[in-house]
Amino acid sequence: MKAIVVTDQAAGTAGMTLVERPEPEAAGNDALIQVHASGFTPGELSWPSNWTDRLGRDRTPSIPGHELAGVVTALGYGTTGLSVGQRVFGLTDWTRDGTLAEYVAVEARNLAPLPGDVDFTVGASLPISGLTAWQGLFDHGRLQAGQSILVHGAAGGVGSMVTQLAREAGAYVIGTGRTVDRQTALDFGAKEFIDLDSDTLENVGKVDLVFDIIGGDIGKRSVGVIRAGGTLVTIAGPPEARPADGLAIDFVVESDRAQLREIVQRVRDGRLRTNIANVADLDDAVAAFNPTERIKGKTIIQVRP
Ligand SMILES: NC(=O)c1ccc[n+]([C@@H]2O[C@H](COP(=O)([O-])OP(=O)(O)OC[C@H]3O[C@@H](n4cnc5c(N)ncnc54)[C@H](OP(=O)(O)O)[C@@H]3O)[C@@H](O)[C@H]2O)c1
Repeated sequence: MKAIVVTDQAAGTAGMTLVERPEPEAAGNDALIQVHASGFTPGELSWPSNWTDRLGRDRTPSIPGHELAGVVTALGYGTTGLSVGQRVFGLTDWTRDGTLAEYVAVEARNLAPLPGDVDFTVGASLPISGLTAWQGLFDHGRLQAGQSILVHGAAGGVGSMVTQLAREAGAYVIGTGRTVDRQTALDFGAKEFIDLDSDTLENVGKVDLVFDIIGGDIGKRSVGVIRAGGTLVTIAGPPEARPADGLAIDFVVESDRAQLREIVQRVRDGRLRTNIANVADLDDAVAAFNPTERIKGKTIIQVRP
């Protein structure tokens, strides 16, 4: 099969190539998937799990990309709940070979059915951004109708999902980003926009929840706009500050079949719009992974055009 591989951490994306690899086999509880579309996160080569297995042993050359939409072609011993020929989508294990390939072996529990009226390209764009938004808002942030939320990077892959889901849940959403992001954030459902290039973050007043995808100084200052007892949810690494009497929760997205079903149902009925900025073929995936200009939203690789 054709696959994109990375060979060593020092070379990073410079060592990324398109190669021929043997097809993987479905181990116990796995499904073997013919990948139709694949998604990746731009910074994922900085994660140690890309280079080693759970015991820290070198697993290079490894295949990046952890989101997929495709068709089940085989089931491993003991795999239940899926059928050969079924359309699926999902988030794959961080420490196994990923989805920038024609086939991938995935634990079946990481996959959900992809309805026939949802494109593979759309399906592959949903797992990381959709699940991260869902888990940050509802599992960790405990967002309630009527609360206010500040969403950093509201025009980006994760932020646009957070904005839409929070709005649907009945929250008052204030988005942030760069000057050029204003209209996109408002179009996704933010009621107000804070331009981090020119506005003063602290002028926003007090909110119940901050969803931080930026971290650093922005993350630290955001704590000052959270009401006492409120919550900071971050996906940008361990928080450096905590709201008074409140919580500061850093988390990494996990696969969840029930949440994938909720997310794709919202896409089908128009409550949720995915944020795809670029679609490329597997032959062009190395260039797509290394864009020369900033991409706002997801890049999806069409593995089977
Ligand atoms: N922990 C987890 O489970 C998890 C899950 C998903 C993603 N992540 C991480 O979360 C981050 C966001 O992912 P994403 O897919 O949403 O990326 P994305 O599509 O690039 O969106 C990020 C958005 O935030 C904006 N932004 C970043 N820094 C900014 C700053 N200092 N001032 C103003 N705007 C800024 C970006 O604008 P510019 O493009 O102009 O900078 C962009 O619009 C990534 O670092 C990713 O690795 C973590």
